[in-house]
Amino acid sequence: MLNKELQHKPVMCEEVLSILNPSDGCVYLDGTLGAGGHSRKILESADCSVIGIDKDPTAIELCRDLEKHYGNKFLSINGSFGNLSQHLNSIGINKIDGILLDLGTSSMQLGTPERGFSFQFDAPLDMRMTQTGERAYDIINSLSEDSLADIIFYFGEERRSRKIAKAIVNKRKIKKIKTTFDLNEIILSVKKANNRKIHPATKTFQALRIYINNELKDLYEALISIEKVLSEKGRLVVISFHSLEDRIVKNFIKENSMPLRKYDPKNPDKIFVYENRKVIKPSEYEVKKNRRSRSAKLRWVFRSSLKLSQLNSSHNFINYGGIEC
Ligand SMILES: C[S@@+](CC[C@H](N)C(=O)[O-])C[C@H]1O[C@@H](n2cnc3c(N)ncnc32)[C@H](O)[C@@H]1O
Repeated sequence: MLNKELQHKPVMCEEVLSILNPSDGCVYLDGTLGAGGHSRKILESADCSVIGIDKDPTAIELCRDLEKHYGNKFLSINGSFGNLSQHLNSIGINKIDGILLDLGTSSMQLGTPERGFSFQFDAPLDMRMTQTGERAYDIINSLSEDSLADIIFYFGEERRSRKIAKAIVNKRKIKKIKTTFDLNEIILSVKKANNRKIHPATKTFQALRIYINNELKDLYEALISIEKVLSEKGRLVVISFHSLEDRIVKNFIKENSMPLRKYDPKNPDKIFVYENRKVIKPSEYEVKKNRRSRSAKLRWVFRSSLKLSQLNSSHNFINYGGIEC
């Protein structure tokens, strides 16, 4: 059983439900299952089904109770939402009535020291959502100084990236950098803690996590495949927690959607439709109750009646604000 303090609180639930508007007989995709908070709310709202995807096998295990409770109304898949259309094909589903992507890490990932996501606990440098492949330890101890600096600069928007990368490379010549606290110490040697709100290691840890988990590319892959699986009028809701993700979502929506007031279902010219392009933020009340929600930004669109567009010919990762390191 999960420690209560680690239990992830789903963010902007009311907003998500009012947009998705779960209805009887419909099928929803929760691309970021986590602790199943949003999935549970959707299932409680109507006699509908939910397919939950998560990269992290621990999230799948955490949601076994949903399987028990909802039987064949809930199905979980351990994989990336970047491959969502392949996952749906593999279980014989080709249309979905609503999709939710609640991006980033869960409280369980951040709060479990041995996962190595947090600079607040001393633990091996890991940060892998999939729990396979290269760990932060491998990256930190093997990449060139320039590559490390680029990752820290582009994915962390860290101005001291070159100095931090240099300090990492100097330190690892003496001994391997094994733990989160080893890395903290190096960052603090070039970036002093001050009274400002954010810890000096925040940006570097964010950068490594984004790089290791291929977060921006997965998001892009998911967005460009959604037109294939979302049914007409089906809604796509994306909640992001940092500007790099939000930029991709914003640019994607800008490029591929049209305003509702101009939308004629008999003659659509975009694959998605928006009611309002303004970002939706959590209420003050929610932020007070759940500090983690403070940086959440929600954007949503619905699928128009346009037939499939020329997939991939007009989409471009870099044009949508994607970064490759
Ligand atoms: C913010 S949490 C979601 C919390 C969830 N909405 C809830 O209510 O419990 C984000 C989750 O997305 C997962 N995740 C991140 N990137 C993913 C990807 N590319 N594919 C599938 N899951 C991903 C993480 O492992 C994490 O469990």
